Amino acid sequence: MKDAYPYPVARIGLIGGGQLGRMMVKAAKRIGCTCVVLDPYPMSPAGQVAGHQIIGGYHDPAKLRELAETCDVVTFELEDIDTETLLQLEREGHNIYPAPALLATLQDKLTQKRFLRDADIPTADFEEMPSADADAFAGFGYPLVQKARRGGYDGRGVSVMQTATDFQHHLPVPSLVERFVEAKKELAVMVARNSMGDCRAYPTVEMCFRAGENVLDLLLCPAAVPKNIASAAEALAVRTIEALDGVGVFGVELFLTEDDQLLVNEIAPRTHNSGHHTIEACMTDQFEQHLRAILGLPLGATDLLTPAAMINLLGEADANGRPVINGMAAALEIPGVCLHIYGKAEAKPFRKMGHVTVLDKDISEARHKAERVRDLIQITGEQHP
Ligand SMILES: Nc1ncnc2c1ncn2[C@@H]1O[C@H](COP(=O)(O)OP(=O)(O)OP(=O)(O)O)[C@@H](O)[C@H]1O
Ligand SMILES: [Mg+2]
Repeated sequence: MKDAYPYPVARIGLIGGGQLGRMMVKAAKRIGCTCVVLDPYPMSPAGQVAGHQIIGGYHDPAKLRELAETCDVVTFELEDIDTETLLQLEREGHNIYPAPALLATLQDKLTQKRFLRDADIPTADFEEMPSADADAFAGFGYPLVQKARRGGYDGRGVSVMQTATDFQHHLPVPSLVERFVEAKKELAVMVARNSMGDCRAYPTVEMCFRAGENVLDLLLCPAAVPKNIASAAEALAVRTIEALDGVGVFGVELFLTEDDQLLVNEIAPRTHNSGHHTIEACMTDQFEQHLRAILGLPLGATDLLTPAAMINLLGEADANGRPVINGMAAALEIPGVCLHIYGKAEAKPFRKMGHVTVLDKDISEARHKAERVRDLIQITGEQHP
């Protein structure tokens, strides 16, 4: 097989310097690549590890160009990027994966839903709402979920409305509304696809959310669903990424309905929070897998080596200043606890500061340990509010 890029010293240009980028840079270094990170904040979590950062925004054409011109391949760890510039750089011959056109489709939730509908991928029915209008929402029918077309993440661009009185919580932006799905579980499947078209799914995970909040609370792998449902979820996720002609790693979020139907909720064109456990629990982690995919290398095996539970470590409600990790020693005494702290300069309320993956051959034991760690660790800041 002919290598698509010089190996092993490919220069990776990474747009976004957050935790996903940090973990990708670590994987890149392990396989001998160098990395340049583009991020507006100096010493970003990924920039610290890369050792080379361009300070600039994701919508700054000159900085995006500088990144592309210093690297062999450009990729990203977030969606909110100026795709016009990426499309232009691609036309000029720069390697950018996933493809800028694909990113443009997915970064707008309306065009993403249209793609799913046109590709015949089951998803909740929806309608475009150019502006929030009470009559139009009522015409669509409650309960519904309003989603901002752009810029939402961690549930911030989402408003769940049970009845017409909830319209007061509408988002005053161009959006779509979709049917509220009575889901018995939320599942996710990480999918990798390389430029040769080889496509592999990771084992289905189960995402548990805290009531009333949209930030992922606990992730379990394998998901507690019958084998045929896990296989169907993986097949649907693969079909979705093949329909997109995607190259890279993708997170496919799914609903499992009361009557065992699978619906695709959304697709992330990047590594994803629901794949963090792959670092310790799978044969190939999602970050190395993404690099393999975009470098035209063979994909690694996605097998689960051991059951795992994962929790995010968020800043406490009053966190402020240089992070202080309380309860770390007690948590590290628990066998199977793998701690990740992201190196963010400041703790802020509910900010993702790290995560913990717990490995245990018994998934319910892994879950209990993860819940214990969640109670043990509190992330505050040196300064008090
Ligand atoms: N149609 C729906 N029916 C019921 N619940 C929904 C629906 N759409 C979204 N939700 C709930 O809201 C959460 C966030 O929605 P979604 O994943 O679309 O938004 P997001 O802002 O991209 O969030 P994240 O970045 O955390 O993935 C979902 O995980 C789910 O719990
Ligand atoms: Mg989501």
